[in-house]
Formats: sequence, structure tokens, C-alpha cells
Amino acid sequence: MISKDIELAAEIVKNDGVIGFPTETVYGLAGNIYSTKAVNKIYSIKQRPLHNPLIVHIKEVGDLDQIAIEIPEIAGIMAQKFWPGPLTLVLKKHPNISELITAGHQTVAVRVPNHPIALALLRQLDFPLAAPSANPFGSISPTTPEHVEAYFKEKVPVVLDGGNCKEGIESTIVGFKGESAVIYRLGSLSKEEIEKVTGPAILFNKAEEAPEAPGMLSKHYAPQSTLYVTDNLSESISKFSDKKIGLLTFRQHREEQNSKHQVILSPIGSLKEAASKLYTALHELDAMKVDIIIAERFPDHDLGRTINDRLERASKQ
Ligand code: TXA
Ligand code: MG
Repeated sequence: MISKDIELAAEIVKNDGVIGFPTETVYGLAGNIYSTKAVNKIYSIKQRPLHNPLIVHIKEVGDLDQIAIEIPEIAGIMAQKFWPGPLTLVLKKHPNISELITAGHQTVAVRVPNHPIALALLRQLDFPLAAPSANPFGSISPTTPEHVEAYFKEKVPVVLDGGNCKEGIESTIVGFKGESAVIYRLGSLSKEEIEKVTGPAILFNKAEEAPEAPGMLSKHYAPQSTLYVTDNLSESISKFSDKKIGLLTFRQHREEQNSKHQVILSPIGSLKEAASKLYTALHELDAMKVDIIIAERFPDHDLGRTINDRLERASKQ
């Protein structure tokens, strides 16, 4: 059930239940971090492997000390600057944080979401919420309450309605090597924005180095239809001319293409707007039951880099 009732959502999570909840990035599947029952439910509903850790959501920077210890100075500066917002920090875990949440790691991922309803809910609780994105493992993350309901039906009794997610792509995950920032997952906060605060950041490369951030798994965020990423739209459209094509472009309309099966992410050429609409567009194109989705590669800077990262992973066979 999609509902605006924050009290009801609070009651459910107070009783070891799991709800769908809105954040500015994507919807999450949320439960009490201190309830083993709730955390187990999150993993099982999402069909998430137990070795993939969850993100802890807190209501304000002041709660960070209950979640993490030995916080590097630069992490504190980032928290002050970017929270509430789409930045997840990976820090040494507080002893009270269970290894079920951190998947056995001694680090914990934590953030303050920038969504009025998420914050209102968190303020009614005396515990933080663990929440992965509210999609079955490997599929496209949800950016509307309807996406969550369609994925999980009655397995998630209440999806708290916070409308469409403003950012539309997951948070950026940042850890530290000494005082240097390491980006584990590109996200709604661009590398450029982060580097203004941290100086040059290291882009953590791929699951091969360590499966620490499954957001880095090579195949992820995938639609049902095959996704094909290209630098040359005309060539790709003719290559697949015998197929029902769904087209995902940055700003141009393609005359040769049935406009019903085309989504233009930002006619004005805004990377931020394009990022915010990316998952919604993939959900829409999937629902049209096209044979193939052809997506244009984005300029590889700012949020274009994040969009390309998601397109690449979603297109892996
Ligand atoms: O925007 C978001 O971050 C959304 C909303 C709901 O907050 N959540 C989200 O959660 O994207 P999820 O579970 O889909 O992705 C969390 C990512 C995973 O790739 C996980 O591996 C990584 O965070 N992560 C969690 N704990 C970690 C840790 N200790 N070290 C490195 N990565 C970690
Ligand atoms: Mg996810």
C-alpha cells in the first residue's frame, strides 16, 4: 500500500517491520538497524546476498558518533558540507553496529538523506534505518513509490509516499585512505563537487579489486530489455533496424525513430536533469516491451560520468 502516513510507517519499523521509504536519491527498503529480524527481512525481500552491506540512514550529523568511530577530519568536514544529501561515508564501524549490516566488514556506510518525509520519519524513531535501494538485486532502482510497489507487492506492506525522487540516482559512496578520499560508487554528488572539498579523489576501480561496494558490481541496475550504449546513434539505430527499439538520448530528438519509444532526458542539456530522469526513463522504456534500448553515451564529466557508469553496468550481459 502506498501511503503518506508517517505514523503508520513508524509503527511498522518500531515492530521489526520493513517499509519502502523515499529519499532524494532513490527509494529505500528500510528497517531498524538494531533489529536482527528487520535486517534479515531486508536481505530476504531484496534477495540480496548477505555479503553486500547496507547503508545506515541517520537524521543528523550529530548521530554519526553512534554509528562510526575514529572519523577522519576530512570526513567530518564532508558530513558538515554535504548532509543532508546524496553522500554516503564509509567509516570504521561503532562496536554497536552489527556485522549483519556491514556484511562482516569493520567499516559502515552511513548518510543523512535529504528528503523531508525521510527526515520526519527518522525524527520519530530512536534508532536509525538500514536501507538498500528498494529494488530486487541487480534491477533498476526505484524512483517512485509505484516502482517499489510493483517490485515487491504485499511483501512490503507500506511504501511511504514521497513523490518522485529529486536526484534520481543513488548516493555517491566515499571512503578514506588516510586523509585521501576514495570514491567507491559514483552517484548523485559528482566527483568534481567532492574534489572541491577533498582535493583529488581516487576512483575505486571495479569489483575485481574487492567486492566491497557491490554498487561496483559490473552487472547492475539492469532493465529487462537489452541495453546497448553507443557513441554513434545513427549507426546503432540502423544496425538494429529489424528490432523494436527504445531510444534514450541526452537532448536530441531523432526523426527516424518512433517518438513514442524515445525518451529525451534533458532537452536543455542539463546533466543534473538527465541524471534525475535516467532510472524513470529506463523503467518507462522497459514497460513498453521494446526489444532493445539504445542509449547515447554522455559527456564524461560531472553527472555525465555517473550516468555513463550506470549505463555501462546496466548494459553488461
Ligand atoms: O542513495 C542511496 O545510497 C540509496 C538510498 C536508499 O539511500 N541506497 C542505496 O543502497 O543505494 P544500496 O544498498 O543499493 O547500495 C549501497 C551500496 C552497496 O553498493 C554497498 O556495497 C555499499 O553501499 N556499501 C555498504 N556498506 C559498505 C562498506 N562498509 N564499504 C563499502 N561499501 C559499502
Ligand atoms: Mg542498490
